[in-house]
Amino acid sequence: MSGFSKKIVRKISPFVPKWAKNNIPTGVKNFLRSKYVPRTVVIDIVGTCNLKCPSCPNGNTPNKNPIGMMDLVTFEKILDKIALEHPGTTVAIYNWTDQFLHPQIVDFIKVIHVHGLKSLLSSNLNFIPADLKGLAESNSGGITISLSGFTQKVYGIAHKGGDIEIVKENMRKLSAALKEANSSTCVNVYYHKYKHNLDEIKLMEEFAKSLGFGFGADWAYFMPIEGVKKYIDGNLPEADVKFIETNLALNIKKAMEAAKEFKNEPCLFPSTLLTIDWRGQVQLCCAVYDSGRFSIGSYLDTPWKVIEERLENHPFCKECVKDSLHTYISWHGNSKLRPIYQKIAQEEIQKHNNNNGWQKKNL
Ligand SMILES: C[S@@+](CC[C@H](N)C(=O)[O-])C[C@H]1O[C@@H](n2cnc3c(N)ncnc32)[C@H](O)[C@@H]1O
Ligand code: SF4
Ligand code: SF4
Repeated sequence: MSGFSKKIVRKISPFVPKWAKNNIPTGVKNFLRSKYVPRTVVIDIVGTCNLKCPSCPNGNTPNKNPIGMMDLVTFEKILDKIALEHPGTTVAIYNWTDQFLHPQIVDFIKVIHVHGLKSLLSSNLNFIPADLKGLAESNSGGITISLSGFTQKVYGIAHKGGDIEIVKENMRKLSAALKEANSSTCVNVYYHKYKHNLDEIKLMEEFAKSLGFGFGADWAYFMPIEGVKKYIDGNLPEADVKFIETNLALNIKKAMEAAKEFKNEPCLFPSTLLTIDWRGQVQLCCAVYDSGRFSIGSYLDTPWKVIEERLENHPFCKECVKDSLHTYISWHGNSKLRPIYQKIAQEEIQKHNNNNGWQKKNL
């Protein structure tokens, strides 16, 4: 399909009524999406994170990926190629890391915009750039602040190594800088819901809104895909199993069972996503972690057709789809699976509350 036809389809799409879109079969929808919507690009510009969340490979994987930082010149070259191969795309500069750890973060955002692309950021906000004015004036396309509590006692469980009072102070500073710069950047607080932290959602929502930030909360899940597979196969270390079974409301075993019903739905990542690490190595997708195992090749040195072919034919994907791991990891975007997962999480919460009531009564 020519670039001209793609442009026409993108222009028409917002005018197609939702009911009509809902009646398009999933297979057709996925085909159209992969053909006409630009791939989302995910780039880690640093190689690590300042926290060790137990649901994230930084907290649950003993063999960490190499540590380092991308330099601005390499980033510019990568963006030159991306702008040619994926015009109109959004560039999220985070996957398994925190982009605010890069001392030149503001320059990286500017490079994305100079290339006519949209930038997206996500941070635990325990650390913010010294140049907050520059950050606000860069008018990034959006910043997500990820957290899991309002008090340290609760927050520290799932955001291990973080300090919620520092996060709150940084939220205040960020809000003030954005207002001062009259910035167009939207900030959204994303509250990860666990069994242990539901009581503090309201407090955080009020705080976030008082600063002019958006707020959303959703069930936390376990990452990366290799870790979920290990859990199901009974090969995960004791401490990780304990965290999963004590804290996750979205019970993995039940969630995987429910995902089986959708296992024939193809994984959209190979056709809709491009993931690159701080060394410029393309990764199989955003849901796998081990770059020693899942690097596809250098983005700058590999022709796009070859990358595409490698993404679409990676041997691990067969294993992943066979176990429905691809469905579990992208449940947010699956309108049929979402209510089922909602029900699983609510049942787990109910069970948790009943047990706690029993424990309190018997103390
Ligand atoms: C792995 S994080 C990396 C970016 C940054 N360090 C952060 O935490 O926002 C990428 C995205 O995953 C989300 N995330 C992290 N842990 C999660 C969990 N257990 N369940 C659901 N989403 C999670 C974060 O909110 C963030 O938007
Ligand atoms: S979820 Fe984000 S903040 Fe937590 S360890 Fe992973 S990358 Fe860091
Ligand atoms: S099938 Fe699994 S490993 Fe392959 S791209 Fe999809 S989520 Fe990633």
